[in-house]
Amino acid sequence: MALTRQKYTEVIGIASGKGGAGKTTVAVNLALSLQEKGFRVMLFDADLGLANAPILLGTRCPFNISHVMRGEKKLSEIIVTTPQKLRLISGASGNQALAGLTALEVTQLVQAFSDLPEELDYLIVDMAAGIAPSMLALMAACHRRFIVMRNDPSSIADAYGTIKVLLEDKLKDEIYLIPNAVKSKLVGEELFQRVNRVCAKFLTGTVRYPTSIVQDDLIQDAHTHLQPLMTYAPNSRAAQDFRQLAHVVTELPAVEKPSGAVQFFVSRWLPPPLSRELH
Ligand SMILES: Nc1ncnc2c1ncn2[C@@H]1O[C@H](COP(=O)(O)OP(=O)(O)OP(=O)(O)O)[C@@H](O)[C@H]1O
Ligand SMILES: [Mg+2]
Repeated sequence: MALTRQKYTEVIGIASGKGGAGKTTVAVNLALSLQEKGFRVMLFDADLGLANAPILLGTRCPFNISHVMRGEKKLSEIIVTTPQKLRLISGASGNQALAGLTALEVTQLVQAFSDLPEELDYLIVDMAAGIAPSMLALMAACHRRFIVMRNDPSSIADAYGTIKVLLEDKLKDEIYLIPNAVKSKLVGEELFQRVNRVCAKFLTGTVRYPTSIVQDDLIQDAHTHLQPLMTYAPNSRAAQDFRQLAHVVTELPAVEKPSGAVQFFVSRWLPPPLSRELH
């Protein structure tokens, strides 16, 4: 099968508003699904939750972004290769909050990624819960923004709140809403439509629907075994949803122009290619 490689590194930020919506689960399993398709993928764990990406991937990161911010390490020196061969950068550990970064520090951090020697098709950024200014700045620096939402009132309200601030931040394009842990894809799609109708009515823009992820107890089982779902239960229902999400991601039209003033990999930016086929 011909692999459609990216001509530039596409950066996807994954946020939710409310904690526990499934950001890390989506980030890790989307990254692995893209890798399974043959793409070169890196995961940046900017999430300080307990179930963070290194744990879900059964690995440890001896160094993290705080070492880079203090000038003790270069970004390229803190990259870990996980047992699943995923490239991983850890945001911070314990209470060294990435959430407290100043605008200048966020700019420096985003620029440090441009200097990485790695060739990547996708960088997936697992954001911290909430809408701290540094999280919004990181989201603005991404090419696409995914909001993960559960089918419960507070998760829906927080997803809507996050969409609202992103839209107020002039990030009109490239916001996607992913219903997670839903009973069925149909329930997920209906939930998306409901929220998007409210966005259309009360906000300055709408969001897009990539797909939903069903509730699947194997995600928790995988977690208990310190493995990601894609390797623990590759044929499970949710694993198939993550593969579908990866498929949707690879079929999206190239982002035509950077959205924020500060942008990941801006120095690598190329005009949208006429054809993205390698072979
Ligand atoms: N589709 C799903 N089906 C069943 N359980 C799920 C699903 N998605 C996530 N979970 C479970 O929900 C919990 C929270 O998921 P996760 O850690 O990915 O959320 P998060 O948004 O990253 O949380 P935090 O805000 O703490 O970073 C985990 O125990 C995870 O195993
Ligand atoms: Mg998390």
